[in-house]
Amino acid sequence: MGLHHQVIVVGAGLSGLRAALAAQQDGLDVAILSRVHPVRSHSIAAQGGINASLANAEGGRDDNWEKHAFDTIKGSDYLADQDAVEIMTKEAPGIVYEMEHWGTPFSRTIDGRIAQRPFGGAAFPRTCYAADITGHALLHTMYEKSVKEEIKVYEEYLLLSIVKHDNACVGIVALNINNGEIIAMSADAVIIASGGYGRIYGNSTNALINTGSGMAAAYLSAGVPLKDLEFVQFHPTSLYGTNILITEGARGEGGYLFNNRHERFMKNYAAKAMELAPRDIVARSIQTEINEGRCYNNAYVLLDLRHLGRKKIMERLPGIRDICLHFAGLDPINKPIPIQPGQHYSMGGIDTNANGETSLAGLFAAGEAACVSVHGGNRLGGNSLLDTIVFGKLSGHFASGYVKAKKKNAADQALQAELAKVKAKVSRLENSAGKENPAKVRSELKTTMMEEAGVFRTKAKLEAGLAKIKELKERYKQIHLLSKIKKYNLDLVRNLELEGKLALAEVIVLGALKREESRGSHFRTDYPTRNDEHWLKHTLAHHTESGPRLDYKAVTITRFRPQARTY
Ligand code: FUM
Repeated sequence: MGLHHQVIVVGAGLSGLRAALAAQQDGLDVAILSRVHPVRSHSIAAQGGINASLANAEGGRDDNWEKHAFDTIKGSDYLADQDAVEIMTKEAPGIVYEMEHWGTPFSRTIDGRIAQRPFGGAAFPRTCYAADITGHALLHTMYEKSVKEEIKVYEEYLLLSIVKHDNACVGIVALNINNGEIIAMSADAVIIASGGYGRIYGNSTNALINTGSGMAAAYLSAGVPLKDLEFVQFHPTSLYGTNILITEGARGEGGYLFNNRHERFMKNYAAKAMELAPRDIVARSIQTEINEGRCYNNAYVLLDLRHLGRKKIMERLPGIRDICLHFAGLDPINKPIPIQPGQHYSMGGIDTNANGETSLAGLFAAGEAACVSVHGGNRLGGNSLLDTIVFGKLSGHFASGYVKAKKKNAADQALQAELAKVKAKVSRLENSAGKENPAKVRSELKTTMMEEAGVFRTKAKLEAGLAKIKELKERYKQIHLLSKIKKYNLDLVRNLELEGKLALAEVIVLGALKREESRGSHFRTDYPTRNDEHWLKHTLAHHTESGPRLDYKAVTITRFRPQARTY
């Protein structure tokens, strides 16, 4: 028998590290498999903060978990499962204090408590932060903890397949990027915590590693359904030209949005909340200003921080200033920032419950790769870091409970069979003399997703998008690799990932086409209102050889009945 661990966690961002720490604390043999070194995981890029009703801020003393839950559910446009939101919001303060005790250098109030700033869609300043590098601070803390606990990490491995035997997950097949070897690893439980798929889209705040490989493996090889993939978050403020994230914290600290008439145009869309309306609303407002020409170069509006003054910018938003200096050649202390919406986050993902369990025994998922669902149709800023840690921890503990209760399952044959199948597939790709340039397929996919499944959608656009994705799937069968090297062949990595990206894109677009309403981030100009009678339900996409098969399941409502969503 080859490599074995009781629990294998795929992904070394916050959800993966937290899941591994939980399972190891329960006494299990745990290993993490990651596409990159842990501190290069995309959690590092989170800027503005993590939500918890600590009630530390001036003006936030009346906050509590129930108000956090209500804001989250209203923000989700009532598609979130309310039992799961209750768990997340009740756990939040404990999670933040745990990270503080493990060493996260949170910014402080004048009396020494964890500082909190206002974020969109929140009734109180609830977002705990470390200047504008909160993800960086949390991920380094979590990584240091994992080093202290001696968690084994297989760095620079790409997940290729999830192996099943007797209706249970028994391991994985992965590519060692460093030497080109394809290996099988057996496990009693696998936790997918590999993040989102942002790079399917052209304009994305996401890192190049965010290709949805874990979601795709669960869908394609494990046969587990994906939930609510049509809900794609566009962050309102990404830097024009590069789409680097410009944190919501910039508006939380008081930044204004202006169009080319120097109007604070949010007054026309969310008169009360203004720049701090939830992301779906602010992104649509900005995109409307751009589409209707009240913008610059047909492409962007301005985020103005100048009135905050040098001291506040240097203290609270130093990273944003650096990004602007290095990537736009401007200093936000004395010049406004050109911004446009950029794909940022996937509300949908692998269908799980709040324990991280999927429909396949022994397969768990957490973080952005999963859809619990606590974000429903639209995630509030600051709830993502929270989701990663809360549900990473829960899935780690539930996976260890599963492993301890499980009968041993001799799965060597299944692993060897899947290893041979994957090796044959990779070898076909390596030796293909097909006429398609893969870079063209990847780039046409990105353009298609931006144009046909972006901030505003219609039946015609989505149908065109679906037809194009089907064409690209056919052309994918004819691609040839541009590089044949064994060591660090990123051409191979990208094109193995491309199969999964195409599959996820098809699920996003089909789900969006079928959902004839507007809810949260999914806005159909041909169906501009929410329709609870027909569409207060989750989409489930099941993989079949001819494409996704959709069905639906009920949303869990506990204490908050759906109501009109105004800000
Ligand atoms: O705007 C931001 O800092 C991003 C936060 C988030 O996605 O939660």
